[in-house]
Amino acid sequence: MLTCQKELFNLSEEVTYLNCAYMGPLLRSVEAVGHEEVKRRLRPFNYGRKDFFEPVQKIKATFSEFVNTGDAERIAIIPSVSYGISNAAKNIDFSQKKEILLVGEQFPSNYYPWETAVKNQGAVIKPITPTSSGKTRAADWNQSILDHINENTAVLSMAHVHWADGTLYDLLAIREKLDTVGAKLVIDGTQSVGALPFDVQAIRPDALIVAAYKWLLGPYGIGLAYYGPAFDNGQPIEENWINRKNSQQFENLVNYQPAYEPKAARYSVGEQSNFIYIAMLQASLEQLSAWGPQRIQNYCKGLVVDYLKEFESLGFQTGLGTEMAYHLCGIQLPDGLEMSKLSEMLQQENIYVSVRGNSIRLAPNVYNDQHDMDHLLSVFKRIAQ
Ligand SMILES: Cc1ncc(COP(=O)(O)O)c(C=O)c1O
Repeated sequence: MLTCQKELFNLSEEVTYLNCAYMGPLLRSVEAVGHEEVKRRLRPFNYGRKDFFEPVQKIKATFSEFVNTGDAERIAIIPSVSYGISNAAKNIDFSQKKEILLVGEQFPSNYYPWETAVKNQGAVIKPITPTSSGKTRAADWNQSILDHINENTAVLSMAHVHWADGTLYDLLAIREKLDTVGAKLVIDGTQSVGALPFDVQAIRPDALIVAAYKWLLGPYGIGLAYYGPAFDNGQPIEENWINRKNSQQFENLVNYQPAYEPKAARYSVGEQSNFIYIAMLQASLEQLSAWGPQRIQNYCKGLVVDYLKEFESLGFQTGLGTEMAYHLCGIQLPDGLEMSKLSEMLQQENIYVSVRGNSIRLAPNVYNDQHDMDHLLSVFKRIAQ
């Protein structure tokens, strides 16, 4: 079992940081790598040809193992989720099947790229919103997603857990149903990969897109993506030299090359070799791999579960008793309590969580401990009095 890892981070003792879903803190080890890489960058002659390629190959291999793709050539380096989703949206054929199923109120970077497919390819977006509230909400929502899949479905794009309230989706059942109609599955793993196990070979998404700055504890401005065989002959949203075949041969670069490097390579962003970010993300991925996402999830569960019970006894609503992930928990205020007042109290106490409408989003990680949860509970007790 994992114990609290706070000493590996540089979080202030004055702050109760329970908002990894907003931005993950950097590990001290990642900070050190970043500093080293900035120093190296002072001198351009420090960089040889291999520096453009080898760290990228290495991080692809590490991430490929982390999400169990079985093939590192299926990983691409992306700068953002919108970029990764846009590559997928551009390469789905909507000439026969027109429907894009989107889980309701997804993060906008998993919405706008699909709007472009509507404009450019005549596709139609069908949002799938929750059909009930309370303890049946997650199960009913999952069922509704299954019910929406039909012969006209070209693609379903969604997350593993909802970014705002932590609803956990049954991706295995969803994939199975999509198989019956030959539709694609695109997953935004930004709010889950790193803290909840994701197995590409089991879930078989056609694309998995992950920003690094939350649960991968990496820098802001980089992410990792998996693209399956459905995208092997696609058209990337930009054309960078390094994604073309034999780009290692610097002396041959102006013998322009029509072919791409194999599989997902064409979808990597220009300047993917991004020395500083790649090195930092490599270091955080190695630490996450050593901990293991299942152990991180277990840690979060062990940390929050008793507190969620206490919150419920104070009149708050939580996802307890439903299928849920414990690194991202939506907590709804009791009727009659004012969110603005709670927000103010949390701010005064230096407690960081996200506020969304009538709910707060609790997003702990391995650097949080009981002291942090006691601190939050004390505020809830005061406001519920
Ligand atoms: C589910 C989800 N996807 C993506 C992002 C970030 O998107 P992008 O990398 O396009 O800025 C966020 C940020 O909060 C998110 O919660």
